[in-house]
Amino acid sequence: MSEFAARVTDAVKIYGTGEAEVRALDGVSLGFAAGRFTAIMGPSGSGKSTLMHCAAGLDTLTSGSAHIGGTELGTLGDRQLTLLRRERVGFVFQSFNLVPTLSVAENISLPRDLAGGRADDAEWTETLIDVVGLRDRLHHRPGELSGGQQQRVAVARAFAGRPDVVFADEPTGNLDSRSGEEVLRLLGDAVRRTHRTVVMVTHDPVAAAHADEVVFLADGRLVDRMHVPTPQRVLDRLKAFDTAGVTA
Ligand SMILES: Nc1ncnc2c1ncn2[C@@H]1O[C@H](COP(=O)(O)OP(=O)(O)OP(=O)(O)O)[C@@H](O)[C@H]1O
Ligand SMILES: [Mg+2]
Repeated sequence: MSEFAARVTDAVKIYGTGEAEVRALDGVSLGFAAGRFTAIMGPSGSGKSTLMHCAAGLDTLTSGSAHIGGTELGTLGDRQLTLLRRERVGFVFQSFNLVPTLSVAENISLPRDLAGGRADDAEWTETLIDVVGLRDRLHHRPGELSGGQQQRVAVARAFAGRPDVVFADEPTGNLDSRSGEEVLRLLGDAVRRTHRTVVMVTHDPVAAAHADEVVFLADGRLVDRMHVPTPQRVLDRLKAFDTAGVTA
């Protein structure tokens, strides 16, 4: 197995053409180590979501390559890519993206059911339900939950198919600090207890400090990496960008 759960090499992503052209990624090479929690930070528009979407196979690069484990995404057809996403990748979006007509339990098991299911899945789902602390809400619908509870469902759903890597785009962006802490703790637990790989975009230094490593983007480029982050060190680093005029 590759030491990286996901990686991009010389990744370039250009949106639009001519006057409207935007280089959202301008030559990024970056690996997300297996079994680790990585945070991606950078100013608005620096390419964080684009990087995550391209690394996860939700969008394609203009040039360069993206791998999930040993599989190069650019070599896959649409059907193979869909299967790979279902079997090996999980997502947590800022806006939850739960299915409003399904219960909590159904929302959590949906990706697993789509992926075809496995014999020991019921047990795994039970573990996840306990990890996210939603046993007493299993038959509620998303509209009957708080924002923090909905995001916890989204986290459980992302891990339901036992993906190699979970990508989370500002998973705490819509939450109060207490719910946010819970979601971050869950993501950290998933890495440390179930050996998953998590990649999370965040604007919050406190959230980023939950990760093992923080990578910093600016103008579509990788500009720094920080191991063993603390909120203060991350904040200082972000301030340094501001002073250098890198921030939009
Ligand atoms: N579909 C698109 N079409 C054209 N330009 C796009 C598209 N998606 C993103 N961009 C542009 O690409 C750049 C990077 O966008 P991206 O969404 O990756 O930024 P981000 O770092 O996630 O920002 P934020 O922190 O605001 O979410 C931005 O300049 C954006 O306007
Ligand atoms: Mg974004």
